Amino acid sequence: MASLQGKDILHGNQFSKKDIHTVIESTADFEKELKKKGSLTLLRGKILATLFFEPSTRTRLSFETAMQRLGGGVISMGSVESSSVAKGETLVDTVRTVSEYADVIVIRHPRIGSAKEAADAVPIPIINAGDGAGQHPTQALLDIYTIYKELGSLKKLEVSMVGDLKNGRTVHALVELLSLFHARFHFVSPESLRMPEEITSSLKQKGIEIEETEDFVKAASESDLIYMTRMQKERFVDLSEYEQVKGRYIINGEFLQRLKQKITILHPLPRVDEISPEVDAYPGAAYFRQVRNGVFVRMALLSMVLGKR
Ligand code: CP
Repeated sequence: MASLQGKDILHGNQFSKKDIHTVIESTADFEKELKKKGSLTLLRGKILATLFFEPSTRTRLSFETAMQRLGGGVISMGSVESSSVAKGETLVDTVRTVSEYADVIVIRHPRIGSAKEAADAVPIPIINAGDGAGQHPTQALLDIYTIYKELGSLKKLEVSMVGDLKNGRTVHALVELLSLFHARFHFVSPESLRMPEEITSSLKQKGIEIEETEDFVKAASESDLIYMTRMQKERFVDLSEYEQVKGRYIINGEFLQRLKQKITILHPLPRVDEISPEVDAYPGAAYFRQVRNGVFVRMALLSMVLGKR
């Protein structure tokens, strides 16, 4: 892998197959080391800044946990309302300021392209923790690590991606990674929330097989893996359109009984109603193991961009 030292992490398409294997190996090492020692000192003296202009539980807290488990320090902007963003400070001025305090910045912002804009403004690594409906590359890497652990391979998987595929930055990033391993995709969504055309046409150009469908049971019956996502109420301008699609696809006990095969279920979370709590006990329900893996993957990524791996 070309070293990630000093580099930004902005988009799923910046990783090669070899890079992904390197991230998986490094993540597995951190998982083992952490289990053995509880905490490490690799990033002692380094500071991570988290700038979240949109809500988050998992991404912000797992990055902060990862940094602290590695012996580093964390500073956080806190809520937009409590920062000088509320006084009208621009994104570029905010990141230029924070880059004077920190060694690496993790940023989430509602605008597509915002992480790249931040990266162009400062010399320290910027990690994109979600730029609106654009990309969420570190989620995709933790998804890949989880898939590898759960299924034992990344090769030629048959994958159903379900829900809001139009605005889903997690699926936009994950298709980039899975397509390197010749996945076959079933994109299951309402007509109004289909995967963006630039993504489907790019996949077709690469020779990746895709099916766009509204028939969830049929797609799931042919899949090794379901990647479930939430209908994202906050992305709808017209809430009546959200009302029309909410609850369209739901995994519950009855749904699982209709599938003949054992299946792995991932979800980036948070969920609303698309996976019933009764499914949590199903052996293939991997979404809370996926949450745990987020810390190990982010330990690997922070160490890499800060030149310690
Ligand atoms: N998966 C994910 O991005 O979750 P949060 O929005 O809670 O960070």
